[in-house]
Amino acid sequence: MKKNNSLPVVPGQIDSYHLTPTGLVGTTTACTFEIQVFAENSIRIRVGKQKELDGNPYSVTASPKENSYGFEEDDRHLILKTSKIHLFLRKENLSLIFKTSSGLTISEDDPDFGINWLGTEVSTYKKLQEWEKFIGLGEKTGRLNRYGQSYTHWNTDHFGYGVDDDPLYLSIPFYMGLHHGLAYGIFFDNTHKTTFNFGAGNNRFSYFSAEDGDLDYYFIHDDSVSQVLSAYGGLTGNTPLPPKWALGYQQCRYSYYPDKEVIRLAQTFREKAIPGDVIYLDIHYMEKYKVFTFDNKTFPDPKGLIQYLKQLGFRVIVILDPGIKADETYPIYVEGKSKSLFLSYPNGDHYQGKVWPGWCTFPDFTLPQARDWWGEKLQFYTDLGVDGFWADMNEPATWGQTVPNLVQFDFEGAGANHKKGRNMYGMQMARSTWEGQLKAHSNSRPFVLTRSGFAGIQRYAAVWTGDNVSSDEHMMAGIRLVNSMGMSGVPFSGYDIGGFVGNCSPQLFARWISIAAFCPLFRAHTMVNSHASEPWSFGEEVEAIARNYIRLRYKLMPAIYSAFFKSQETGLPVAKSLALEYPFDDTIYDSAYDSQYLFCEQLLIVPVESYKTITKIYLPEGDWYHLFSGKKLKGGNEVFWECPLNYLPVFVAAGGVLPMQSTRQHSDEVSDGRIKWHIFKGKGVREQIMYEDDGTSNAYQNGYWAKRTIQMDHDHGILKIGPQEGDFPSEYSTAKIYFHGFPDHQVEIEGNRVKMDRNNVAFLDEIAEYDPLPVGEHEFQICAAVPSVTVALTASSQTIILKGIE
Ligand code: GLC
Repeated sequence: MKKNNSLPVVPGQIDSYHLTPTGLVGTTTACTFEIQVFAENSIRIRVGKQKELDGNPYSVTASPKENSYGFEEDDRHLILKTSKIHLFLRKENLSLIFKTSSGLTISEDDPDFGINWLGTEVSTYKKLQEWEKFIGLGEKTGRLNRYGQSYTHWNTDHFGYGVDDDPLYLSIPFYMGLHHGLAYGIFFDNTHKTTFNFGAGNNRFSYFSAEDGDLDYYFIHDDSVSQVLSAYGGLTGNTPLPPKWALGYQQCRYSYYPDKEVIRLAQTFREKAIPGDVIYLDIHYMEKYKVFTFDNKTFPDPKGLIQYLKQLGFRVIVILDPGIKADETYPIYVEGKSKSLFLSYPNGDHYQGKVWPGWCTFPDFTLPQARDWWGEKLQFYTDLGVDGFWADMNEPATWGQTVPNLVQFDFEGAGANHKKGRNMYGMQMARSTWEGQLKAHSNSRPFVLTRSGFAGIQRYAAVWTGDNVSSDEHMMAGIRLVNSMGMSGVPFSGYDIGGFVGNCSPQLFARWISIAAFCPLFRAHTMVNSHASEPWSFGEEVEAIARNYIRLRYKLMPAIYSAFFKSQETGLPVAKSLALEYPFDDTIYDSAYDSQYLFCEQLLIVPVESYKTITKIYLPEGDWYHLFSGKKLKGGNEVFWECPLNYLPVFVAAGGVLPMQSTRQHSDEVSDGRIKWHIFKGKGVREQIMYEDDGTSNAYQNGYWAKRTIQMDHDHGILKIGPQEGDFPSEYSTAKIYFHGFPDHQVEIEGNRVKMDRNNVAFLDEIAEYDPLPVGEHEFQICAAVPSVTVALTASSQTIILKGIE
């Protein structure tokens, strides 16, 4: 019979296997397979047509675990068991079923097309479970629940992308599935172009495919979505604590130049008392867009400039583009060429593509020597006082948007063509930049902001969502992109406030910056020739709103910094989609609510378009307080809420303890020594960690930090301020504790009766009435007469008792 080439190749019968310390390896009629246990909740599946299985050396940093599984066999299956996952491999055709330890099906391959190949393309098809939802998948547009959609991972320079466009700049082939109260995660560790289909165009399965390479994926299951996400962090790494200044406000534009304009910019921030920590230099700082140069006409004294900005409390971040001008008079090019550090054609000629400087070569960041070389070159900047780097165009971008597929990458000696290497390029550029910075200053925390990347990018860089557009729908889409990245291991990300492409309206800027004050990365940026996007560029009212929200950001810094510290430990995001906390509440997936998120765990942020003055919001279960008025609301409810431009709807979870401080002009400004804890009456016992360190050095890795746990027992009215742990001298000597939603109480501190104060609390300042009014009328909201006490902090623990709560 003639062979039908259109049919997929399937694995066929398992014909041999043996157990290993970490799992099992075997063969079927058509392929080789290996199962490895990485943790009780994480199992790796590898299947390939070749004897030697292929792999990605970059994303996963964990190793498989020995002796952590049990094994059984029945007539039809090989069964591998951990305490969390029972994996059944069907002997007949290697289709897989993942069950809980109590026998519930978490995920199962389509019984007929479980794993198959069409040419080099490998796919695995998984039966759609009833009401199955899909979340995560990194920088992907669309709604929170990805059911019914299909996505591609192929890092792409997508200027002015549409809010439903795909693919964008960065690929994270990790998603989570939810059904019947069960959560699982799948990380498909294949760097080729991959497709994820969540029941798009069929009613039978979800599937994922790669153009080439092996089927190599990690299946994760645990009791909660957060545990699944943490396990993904356990495989690919967590984001190290960023320098504190990188959590402040960052100002960018394409481009601030010459140096006088940069100076004016910094001075204006300080004159207007608008806090800010970072100024970016975009491509115009360079001489003819040549990286590792400063244009000596527009920036004759970069060192002096940076020094001066530092005195004003600003750090400088410079853009780095990987394209190196192919110019025999440019020493960087000549050196890179002589050392063969660039991407090349199969015959060894260096590949050239066109970017800003004209024809360029591109360092092969998958070649260790090229990474080291690039890292060493960064000293040019660090010697001038540059504190961070912005890795752009690293998809890599070229005019014409095409790199020929035969271009060769080193891929740690294994060799890869562009089809396999491309998606890894941006991450390795970020890595090389991060490592180079650390080498130059081993005791300073590096900071890299990247556009492109792959799974694991969170170990090296913060991410921004590229060339967005100045529109309301883009603002809302950016929030979902950031939330999705948070569900894909990247806690530090953001969008260009105001929009990169197009001119922002005053209303839109006011709303966008209010929302972004609650975004992990807080950066405004706009394109060359567009309307200026500084906080004061839209008139006095918008300036006042922007100042208010930027100040609020600095007031919240103790909470934000502590949240990043926690994220380093857990891999969980700082901006949390509601799907992480309320995964089985269907209402959160409604398109009216699916951009809402939690910031620093307790703040519920409701992003609203700039043209709305009233909006529908969804408060998930539990009680909530409106942050600005202190009004208490019952959760599990949809409510209408007024949202004038000066008041974004923000709520606090009942029970929470929100650590705040007085605002600052920048993160290094000398502290006034006062911390404020805002406690919102709830139920049960709640804890909040307060983490501090010097904010910039790596000494925290050796214990040079200060930590305190604040514990509120709401049912008994007992507040315990834990002892100070760690060697770092805390910057706070007194704590003012505000009790929101508590009736007036007699208070005892360490057994001594004290009087409670009553203060009005305004988290935002009043805005003056301006004429004309571009953004509408302003009411002033306060939390009225909130009881409070002030406590002198000591190294040891203290107990505060609110008498009369039992
Ligand atoms: C790219 C970046 C953008 C930058 C511009 C010029 O478009 O995405 O942020 O301003 O290049 O460097």
